[in-house]
Amino acid sequence: MRKKILIVDDERSLLESLEMFLSEKGYEVTCAMTAAEALKKNDSFRPDVIILDVRLPDKDGIEVLKELGLKPKHSNVIIITAFHDMDTTIKAMKSGACEYIPKPIDIEELERAVERAARAGIPSSGANAISLDPSLIYEKGKIIGKSRVMKEIFKTIGILSENKVTVLIEGETGTGKEMIAQAIHYHSPFKDHPFLAINCSSIVGTLLESELFGHEKGSFTGAIATKKGKFELAGDGTIFLDEVSEIPFELQAKLLRFLQEKEFEHVGGEKSLKSNARIIAASNKDLWQMVRDGHFREDLYYRLSVAMIMVPPLRERKSDIPLLIQYLLKKINTELHRNIKRVEEMAIERLIAYHWPGNVRELENVLTRGVISTLGEVVLDEFIATLLEKGAAADDMRCDGIGTMSLQDVEKEHILKVLAHTGWHFGKACDILGISRPTLRQKLKEYSISIPS
Ligand SMILES: Nc1ncnc2c1ncn2[C@@H]1O[C@H](COP(=O)(O)OP(=O)(O)OP(=O)(O)O)[C@@H](O)[C@H]1O
Ligand SMILES: [Mg+2]
Repeated sequence: MRKKILIVDDERSLLESLEMFLSEKGYEVTCAMTAAEALKKNDSFRPDVIILDVRLPDKDGIEVLKELGLKPKHSNVIIITAFHDMDTTIKAMKSGACEYIPKPIDIEELERAVERAARAGIPSSGANAISLDPSLIYEKGKIIGKSRVMKEIFKTIGILSENKVTVLIEGETGTGKEMIAQAIHYHSPFKDHPFLAINCSSIVGTLLESELFGHEKGSFTGAIATKKGKFELAGDGTIFLDEVSEIPFELQAKLLRFLQEKEFEHVGGEKSLKSNARIIAASNKDLWQMVRDGHFREDLYYRLSVAMIMVPPLRERKSDIPLLIQYLLKKINTELHRNIKRVEEMAIERLIAYHWPGNVRELENVLTRGVISTLGEVVLDEFIATLLEKGAAADDMRCDGIGTMSLQDVEKEHILKVLAHTGWHFGKACDILGISRPTLRQKLKEYSISIPS
């Protein structure tokens, strides 16, 4: 059946040329020159797509949009206007427009927009899209996977949650290491005790030692009061040592002692303290290779890897991808209050074929961006294709050794390093960073960096 288009504009010549162009493209077209006429034709003609000028003689187009919004949603509206300002765009999008095209109209851009809008309204029995499984429900912390290797990991989680052995989880970034650590903890008899995560790469030197083991008042600059470390705070719970490969060599010895004897002291303290916390460590580097290169203590490696879970990259378990797409879309629906019901088959094939350097996290990001660009209930292949092209560009950068850190990531990391180096002395830190105190405070707020208590 031909798709119906209603064009609303007070400029007769534009109306005529658009009508001719779109009719030639196979659409059934009708026109209106005023808001009143547009609202009437919307009821009688029931268009699939409306092309609406934002400036009409009798009414503001944004007003018309709002009135259209009150009718049953069977139309997708593309706004056209000569007033190419951000304010109108935002208002139009908020009032339910799906696209915004400035005059003079680029006819190819309009054609693409019309095509997209018409497809977004295809009823839910479309042949080229796959429906989301209604029985699949999003639950926080649920690990998804049906590949053989993921099933093995589920079994291991079950076994490890029954005991308290130290676990080392290895896998590339975004493979779900932290989720696995949490699953072990929350399935264990100690699930009501804390799960405390600490990223060993984001804190340096004495501060990391103090985070883990606590410190005595006055033991280093900035240690204004005695403070408990994670090992004391965790009680019978779990300490998750993320990026364990980044623990400085000196601290590795102290961690080893804790793992051997379950004993430790505060930084600057003499009293021996005990902890029953379980350690789960994670690394996205090959820790054994680091041992061979002399960067990680061999004895500590053996103590950490009493049990080991190797999480394979997503590209090595592609059979998980279709299920992950379904599940992550349910998750995104919940988080973004959307109602995505289907995904084009081509999009799924494309997502399976991609090599996922950022693993499940990257898949989730691509799907989130795909949903944001989606107007209706179907995730279209063309958006996914564009997003993957961008992802591939980021990947090329990684191959060049530049990394994928944004300028903001680098700034945040540098600020943290300087603060750690100066023992959180703001004056000294500002001198090194070459910024004022208010600027430093502003940046701490911006990056959600909290001052250690
Ligand atoms: N199997 C899975 N099922 C559902 N969601 C997953 C799965 N694996 C990863 N995720 C999601 O991917 C994201 C990254 O997971 P997580 O933080 O556990 O990865 P990671 O291995 O710790 O990464 P990094 O090394 O970068 O810290 C999270 O949003 C998580 O919810
Ligand atoms: Mg992690």
